[in-house]
Amino acid sequence: MPQYPESLWRASTELPTFPQLEEDIKVDVAIVGAGITGITTAYLLSQEGLKVALLDAGRILEGTTGHTTAKVTAQHGLIYDELIQHLGEDLAAKYYRANSEAIEWMARTVKELDIPCEWKEEDAYLYAEGDQAEAKLRNEFQAYEKLGIPGLWKETLPIALEVKGAIHLPGQAQFHPLAYLKRLVEAIVKAGGVIYENTTVSKKLEGTRPFTLTTPQGNHTVTCQHIISASHFPFTDGGGFYFSRLHAERSYVVAMKPKTPFAGGMYISVDEPIRTLRSASWHGESLVLVGGEGHKTGQGICTYQHYENLEAFGDQLLGIESIPFRWSAQDLFTLDKVPYIGQITASDEGIYVATGFAKWGMTTGTVSARIITDQIQERENPYSELFSPSRFHPNPSIKNFIVENANVAKEMLSGKLGIVYTKPEDLQKDEGSVVTHYGRRAGAYRDTEGELHLVDTTCTHLGCEVEWNEGERSWDCPCHGSRFGYDGNVLEGPAQEPLKKLDAYA
Ligand SMILES: Cc1cc2nc3c(=O)[nH]c(=O)nc-3n(C[C@H](O)[C@H](O)[C@H](O)COP(=O)(O)OP(=O)(O)OC[C@H]3O[C@@H](n4cnc5c(N)ncnc54)[C@H](O)[C@@H]3O)c2cc1C
Ligand code: FES
Repeated sequence: MPQYPESLWRASTELPTFPQLEEDIKVDVAIVGAGITGITTAYLLSQEGLKVALLDAGRILEGTTGHTTAKVTAQHGLIYDELIQHLGEDLAAKYYRANSEAIEWMARTVKELDIPCEWKEEDAYLYAEGDQAEAKLRNEFQAYEKLGIPGLWKETLPIALEVKGAIHLPGQAQFHPLAYLKRLVEAIVKAGGVIYENTTVSKKLEGTRPFTLTTPQGNHTVTCQHIISASHFPFTDGGGFYFSRLHAERSYVVAMKPKTPFAGGMYISVDEPIRTLRSASWHGESLVLVGGEGHKTGQGICTYQHYENLEAFGDQLLGIESIPFRWSAQDLFTLDKVPYIGQITASDEGIYVATGFAKWGMTTGTVSARIITDQIQERENPYSELFSPSRFHPNPSIKNFIVENANVAKEMLSGKLGIVYTKPEDLQKDEGSVVTHYGRRAGAYRDTEGELHLVDTTCTHLGCEVEWNEGERSWDCPCHGSRFGYDGNVLEGPAQEPLKKLDAYA
């Protein structure tokens, strides 16, 4: 039976459960967020004998990591040509090396811990169908040659797509991310680490070392020497202006059982809208994951249309017998496409952040864990400078800083000024929309029983206007990607407070 919207990974993994924080605790390192970044960091630090606490606002691995496509590759779309232009050859080569070493580390870990996670070495392909895409791809290939990246130029693909060219990068991998991370979670617990679920950490930080973290209700505390924000969007800003230098983009994945066999390999297009492909399995059956249709969160077309576009692509390529799963998720982008990993600001010693993985967090989440572990253990790491959140590379940063802030300002204004004609009584069962309610803009959803749920559409993070996401039945914020349920409860940060509920009869 199809399970929508549910990810293949979550449906096929039984994860352990952990208690809510209900006491005051003292640890060496508190890690906020249990996705690939938080779990890998907690694993590394606990193996080195540090006492770690891993805290998650929801269940572990329910965030973006539970909804990824899990290609493990240093081929991050078109990137190396741009990195050379903005950062120079030395740092661009370091970006490749950091990600390649992360793949090697993950492969070694799978072997050493004997993790049954469908780890498979795979070939990655970046391909171009149109003329403009081909020109960009050729520049990218020149960048590979300059940096010594072992990519090969190909005129054809192993699958039935007509292309103008492709860069083939052998020696990459794919896996079942939750099967892999489940084993790391077990190792953290075995090494004495503690994990808490349904424990939101408040953005307010008190004092200097030792730090005290609190829950928003302030009733329980974690005292620690080091704090790591692995919460996707940083749970605390620390004066680092992350709200002005990160934006969220959603994308969609369809897990289909194909009518004709898939030749293997991992693919991503240069042409827009982006298409990605990889194989997977479900109860011994072969599936193909078709992904893409990225757009800024809260600014997409109807969600169903995104899924239909991916299904049409998959159907044309291989034919579709069935679609057991489909899901969507979002990831964060920095101003210069390079993640922010390291001390949250130049002056905040002991507080670290890892974010902005631009849909490549399987490797960069792992890179983060390795860098931050070295920094906490006061060891040199060759990649600290490249990923430092305090870096400043004038060209891309200044341009995108203005673009990001203009976009946020535009969303704040357009959301607040737009005229709305829909009224709550216009809504059918299971329908949601921004409406006019007693002369005020409001968010309304009529559930399947006919009950009306009304919320204030002002995002509780920094005040942008949320938009209705029909496919997920959620209120999504276009500014920094916060998401709320139809009843206003927080589904994804950075917002920590629910949307204000409005009285249907006020
Ligand atoms: C559709 C899609 C496909 C992708 N495909 C790939 C791919 O093929 N290869 C690849 O390398 N990358 C891919 N990515 C990117 C990758 O999945 C992400 O970069 C990565 O999973 C992010 O992991 P994370 O640990 O940083 O965040 P998450 O997995 O989101 O974990 C963050 C956790 O922090 C918790 N949290 C947030 N705020 C708080 C708080 N205040 N207190 C406590 N906990 C909090 C959340 O509940 C969440 O569990 C894809 C992304 C998307 C959206
Ligand atoms: S997520 Fe920042 S204003 Fe909504």
